[in-house]
Amino acid sequence: MTPRRLLVTSALPYANGAIHLGHLVEYIQTDIWVRFMRMQGHEVHYVGADDTHGTPVMLRAHAEGLTPKALIDRVWHEHKRDFDAFAVSFDHYYTTDSPENESLCAEVYQQLQKNNLIATRSVEQFFDPVKQMFLPDRYIKGTCPKCNASDQYGDCCEVCGATYGPTELKNAYSSISGAAPVRKASEHYFFKLSDPRCEVFLREFTQNADCLQTEAANKMKEWLGESGEAKLSDWDISRDAPYFGFAIPGTDGQKFFYVWLDAPVGYFGSFLNYVKKQATQGQSIDADSFLRPGHTTELIHFIGKDILYFHALFWPAMLKNAGFRTPTKIYAHGFLMVNGEKMSKSRGTFITAESYHQQGLNAEWLRYYYAAKLNATLEDIDLNLDDFVARVNSDLVGKYINIASRASGFIHKYFAGKIQDPQQSTASAQTLLRHLKAAQSEIAQHYEEREFGKAIRQIMELADGVNKYFDEAKPWALAKAGQDSLGPLHEVCSTALEAFRVLTLYLAPVLPRLAQSVSQFLKVSCTQWHLIDLPIAQQRNLDEPILPYQHLMTRIEAQQVSALVNVNKENLKPTPPSTAQTSVTATTPNPKNKPPLSPPTEAPLIGPSPTASISIEDFSKIELRVARIAAAESVTGADKLLKLSLDLGPLGTRQVFAGIKSAYDPSQLVGKLTVCVANLAPRKMKFGLSEAMVLAASGEGPGLFLLSPDAGAEPGMKIK
Ligand code: MSP
Ligand code: ZN
Repeated sequence: MTPRRLLVTSALPYANGAIHLGHLVEYIQTDIWVRFMRMQGHEVHYVGADDTHGTPVMLRAHAEGLTPKALIDRVWHEHKRDFDAFAVSFDHYYTTDSPENESLCAEVYQQLQKNNLIATRSVEQFFDPVKQMFLPDRYIKGTCPKCNASDQYGDCCEVCGATYGPTELKNAYSSISGAAPVRKASEHYFFKLSDPRCEVFLREFTQNADCLQTEAANKMKEWLGESGEAKLSDWDISRDAPYFGFAIPGTDGQKFFYVWLDAPVGYFGSFLNYVKKQATQGQSIDADSFLRPGHTTELIHFIGKDILYFHALFWPAMLKNAGFRTPTKIYAHGFLMVNGEKMSKSRGTFITAESYHQQGLNAEWLRYYYAAKLNATLEDIDLNLDDFVARVNSDLVGKYINIASRASGFIHKYFAGKIQDPQQSTASAQTLLRHLKAAQSEIAQHYEEREFGKAIRQIMELADGVNKYFDEAKPWALAKAGQDSLGPLHEVCSTALEAFRVLTLYLAPVLPRLAQSVSQFLKVSCTQWHLIDLPIAQQRNLDEPILPYQHLMTRIEAQQVSALVNVNKENLKPTPPSTAQTSVTATTPNPKNKPPLSPPTEAPLIGPSPTASISIEDFSKIELRVARIAAAESVTGADKLLKLSLDLGPLGTRQVFAGIKSAYDPSQLVGKLTVCVANLAPRKMKFGLSEAMVLAASGEGPGLFLLSPDAGAEPGMKIK
């Protein structure tokens, strides 16, 4: 076999968020495939990187008081830690914010320009006059033009489902500053995808190059339309300053490459940096043979179905016209569901990789479960948490691990830890092992075709066969039957361990750490596929005993999973103690944690709320107004506080420190309308001046709920 030469990638995760179990579907899928290909003896280079550029990273860094570079550096370490924890075996993990990537992007751009595939046009867009920046659509909110629901995004209404453009929103506002956006024109750079050269190439590439899954190819056909239909529009690849990214050559730092231009180029940037690093270690890789056309190497991208458009249209068209090779395969997968639903922060099913690891769950449980569920289609995959516990315990531990624990006990007790050569055993043992080894090409094919679920099913059937053989031989009875039965007992247990070795090799792409432990336990390597055919007896001296059995893998406790869900529940974090029933809770910090409108201690009235009456004059002393939360951020050193900037319309803005951190993620608050006490005397606090107070409801149980006015209310309106 001539080894294949593969450059494999997983999509580059955004540097503005944590790795979660949804991401891991992709990284684990790719890693299993990569490990399998390595076991086959192919030359595999698996590279990744953080996707670092763009507006969200820039704004998040600003909100955290960091430079974008400081933020992406911190997140890189977090991501790397998570990938290591899940045994994702990148050969190199890099960043898109690199010199290699910058010069590759410049080269791509200049080549496209030379080929007359770059155009410039004036584009009118929303501009935030406060922040002095153009607003990506996702940062524009307003009132739905169809149903008048407030605080809807610029593309569709979450209340009535209508879709529209950001310019159709009523009372549009910038969710960054809260200001009303203005329309402003600027010059943009386009990649001329509508050029017939691109269209002809993409039609060929998506329909005939055998690069896409059928379902993906069909989707592309829809997007491309019929020949001559000219469905592809030019692609806007520039963004105006301020932007965190690479400046477009020749624009005096005024225009930047849109993040989706530099992100896929980042695959190559990471690879080039890896090649450099390998060279310093005396290992030379011919980079051009992977990046330029005319070689037999393969470029394989694993991605989620949500980013197919970028990978199957923009990216290959860019490569083709800039003198680079095009992808060999694009393998798209579906999305992760948990218990049949989308991951949810309030249900605790938006589970971060870090929390899984910190709660002490074994990464290989998840790798196993995902493998059992994965196939080569774009279907979503469901992590059913009960099924997760059941399958790991009954199949992985109950069927597979159990073989080793049962057989090795006898081997140590009666045979000083030594196994016997299976070649000398009886027909039934030989048949079992032959049957097991005969499955290797079919299992290999499942792995190669990314039909991991089929591979796991077949491996577990084989494990069933081994358990059946073992049970039928009744080793516990043989052990009791005296000296004459020791020969058969030795054979049964040695055969079971040899079978266990083969099963371990079959599972090694999925369970690399376990395979490592088994290699130590049996004292033979479980890392190369061709070793399947080499029994232990042919790999080492059988006088050498196996190691004493130690738990190779424990069972999952159901409570471990419920604890994991609990730590990921965003709304059930402890809330500040409250004394009132459904009353107004102090959100301007208040030393004794008393509500601002302290319930008087006089005689209770009827009903549950022990509140005395006040006059209308008393009430009207309190100036309640509608406020828009223009900005929200955590306060370093304060556990319960968020710092809010309230837009009171004509009354200007106020800074407020509110004790609502337990209940709200600052990013969810921005743009929201709420109610505030506007005439509260400003208080000087440790962290700054608090100039108003927002109102929230709370009860005896957990939860804290900000008040919000009905649709149509405007910042600054008086509440009477
Ligand atoms: N930064 C872009 C990719 C640029 S590639 C040049 C991006 N990042 S992401 O962080 O949102 O997603 C990274 C990968 O994880 C994508 O392939 C995406 O499809 C995948 N997943 C993210 N959430 C997922 C699920 N819930 N389920 C399965 N895969 C998911 O997209
Ligand atoms: Zn609507």
